[in-house]
Amino acid sequence: MAEDRPRVLVTGGSSGIGFELARQFAEAGHDVLIAAQDVDKLEQAAELIRERAPEVEIDTVAADLATEQGVFELHRAAGRIDILCANAGVGSGGGDFTETDLQKELELIDLNVRGQVHLAKLVVKDMAERGEGRILFTSSIAGIMPGPFEAVYAASKAFVRSFGEGLRNELAPKGIGVTVLMPGPTETDFFHRAGMDNTPAGQMEKDDPELVARQAIDALMADKHAVIGGGLKNKLETSAIRLFPDPVKAQAHRSQTQPVDYEGEGKGGLGPAAIGGLFFVGALAAAGTAVWLQNRQEEADGRDRRRPEAKADFEVAGQSQS
Ligand SMILES: NC(=O)c1ccc[n+]([C@@H]2O[C@H](COP(=O)([O-])OP(=O)(O)OC[C@H]3O[C@@H](n4cnc5c(N)ncnc54)[C@H](OP(=O)(O)O)[C@@H]3O)[C@@H](O)[C@H]2O)c1
Repeated sequence: MAEDRPRVLVTGGSSGIGFELARQFAEAGHDVLIAAQDVDKLEQAAELIRERAPEVEIDTVAADLATEQGVFELHRAAGRIDILCANAGVGSGGGDFTETDLQKELELIDLNVRGQVHLAKLVVKDMAERGEGRILFTSSIAGIMPGPFEAVYAASKAFVRSFGEGLRNELAPKGIGVTVLMPGPTETDFFHRAGMDNTPAGQMEKDDPELVARQAIDALMADKHAVIGGGLKNKLETSAIRLFPDPVKAQAHRSQTQPVDYEGEGKGGLGPAAIGGLFFVGALAAAGTAVWLQNRQEEADGRDRRRPEAKADFEVAGQSQS
C-alpha cells in the first residue's frame, strides 16, 4: 500500500458495477482492494485491472460477506481504507413469495443488509478516528418503491438507501461523506443470478455498468447525497414515480419483475394502461420540477455540510456528469 495514494475497497468488485468502480478508481490513480467470494473471478478481475492501471496496487480478498466471519476477515485484511464502495449485493425473484426460496432470501438479507451494516460499522470507526473518508452504498431504484416478485430484494435496497442517507447526515461532522447509488437495470450478472432472466426487467435493454460506475464516482467525489444510475429515462421515471402512492409504485414495479410465464392470479390494483397514462402525465408534469428541486436541495446540502477536503487525486476520478 502506497502511503500517498488513496486506497479504495470495493465489495463485489469482481464483476458488474463493482468491477467498473474498481477499474475506474485504479485508472484514476487509487490503490484498490476488491472483495468477493469466487477466488478465480477475483484474480481474473484483478489481472484485468492491473493491465489497465499498472502503476497502482490491486489487492484481493476472498470472503463471504453474508457472514460475520467473512466481514471480520475482510476488515482485518483491508488495512487503511480511504474510500469504501459497499457494493456487493444479490437479488432474488423468478416467482411470487409462495414460490421463491426462503434460504436464498435470508442469505440476501444477510448480505445486502446485515453485511452492509457490519462492514460499515468497522470501516466508519476507522475513518472517524482519522477524521476523513468517503462511502458509496449501492442501493437501487428498486429501493424507492415496493417490489412485487422481488419484495425481499426491494426492501433490502430501501434499507440501504435509508441507512446511507441517515449515516450521511450523522457522519458529516466527523469528516465522512456518504453517497447512495441507485442504479436502474444494468447489464451485469445480477438478473441471471437472481433467477430473473424470465422477466421484462431481465430481458430489457440495460444500462452500461461503465456509465453507472462513472456516475457513482462523480457523485461520491462531488459529495452528493445520492445519484440515480443510467440514462435520463431512469432519472425522469424515478423522479415521477416518487410522487405516486405505494400501491401504484408496486404495480409499476411488478410490470418489470413478474415472470412472463407467471400463471398466478390477481394483478391487483391499476391495470397497465392506467399505469402507463399516469406515468406519462405524471412524468411530464413532475419530472422537470422534481429534478430541479432535487438539484437545488443538493446544492443547499453541499453548502451546509462540512465537506472533507478533496485530495487532488480524488478529483480526477471520472468525468463530471450534470
Ligand atoms: N444490475 C442491476 O440491474 C442492478 C440494479 C440496481 C442495483 N444493483 C446492485 O448493484 C450491486 C452490484 O451488482 P451487479 O449488478 O454488479 O451484479 P453482479 O455482476 O452479479 O456482481 C455482484 C458482486 O457481488 C459479489 N457477491 C455476491 N455475493 C457475495 C457474498 N456473499 N460475499 C461477497 N461478495 C458477494 C459477487 O462476487 P461472487 O461472484 O464472488 O459472489 C460480485 O462481485 C448489487 O448490490 C446490486 O443489488 C444492480
